[in-house]
Amino acid sequence: MDTNQKMITIALPKGRLLSQITKYLSPTGIQIKEESRKLDFLDTNHQIRFLFVKNSDVPVYVNYGVADLGICGTDVIYESDFQFLHLFTFPFGKTRICLAGYEKNRNLLSRSGEYKNFVKEIKIATKFIRYAQEYFVERGLPIKIIKLSGSVELAPILGLTDFIVDLVETGTTLKENNLSVIEQLGETEVELIANPGLYKLHYQRIDQFIREVEKIKS
Ligand code: PRP
Repeated sequence: MDTNQKMITIALPKGRLLSQITKYLSPTGIQIKEESRKLDFLDTNHQIRFLFVKNSDVPVYVNYGVADLGICGTDVIYESDFQFLHLFTFPFGKTRICLAGYEKNRNLLSRSGEYKNFVKEIKIATKFIRYAQEYFVERGLPIKIIKLSGSVELAPILGLTDFIVDLVETGTTLKENNLSVIEQLGETEVELIANPGLYKLHYQRIDQFIREVEKIKS
C-alpha cells in the first residue's frame, strides 16, 4: 500500500450495522477498530479515517463534507433529503419500512371522501417523518406525527399513537408486542454514499476504495 496516498474519511453508523460492515470489509485487509469510547479510528495502512456516528447522522457528516464517504441505510438517506452519489449497495442490512399497529385499528385508514376532513388526526409515532407524511398525504388522511427515536413499538401499546412507522427486519419486535404490519411502505438497503464535490476532488482515491470493495462482491 502506498503510504503517501491521500487520506479519505468515511462516516460509519455505530451499532448493529458497524459489525456487519467491519466483517464485510475484512477480506480487503481494511481494519475498523472501535476502541472503548473513541469516536474515530485511523487505518494507517489504507489511509482511511473512520468516524463512528449515530446512524441518522451519517448523511449529515457526508453532506457537510466532514466525511468524503458514508455507509448507511437508504432509509436515513431518504429522510435526510440531501443529495449524494450512490456508489455501491452492500449485500447485507436489507430491511422493510412498515406502517404497523394493532390489527383492530386498520379501519382508521379506510375513511373516504369528505368524512376524512371531519375526523380526528391519525397519530403516528416514528423517526421516519418523510415516509410517514408521504404515505398519509397520498391518501389524504390527516396525521399527527409524534417523533420518537427508539422503542417506538411502545407508543401504540401505551395509547400514545394509533400506529408506528418503523423498520421491520425479522418481525420479532412486532410479534412480541402483539402488533402487526399494516402495510409495507418501502424497502431499505445499505449503501456507500459520497459527497459529490469531494468525490470530484478525491475521485482517484475513492475509486481505489470502491474497487477494493467490489472485489469482495465478485
Ligand atoms: C429496530 C427497529 C425495530 C426493530 C425491528 O430497532 O426500530 O424496533 O429493530 O427488528 P425486528 O423486526 O428484527 O424485531 P433497534 O433494535 O435498532 O432499536 P430502536 O428500537 O432503539 O430503534
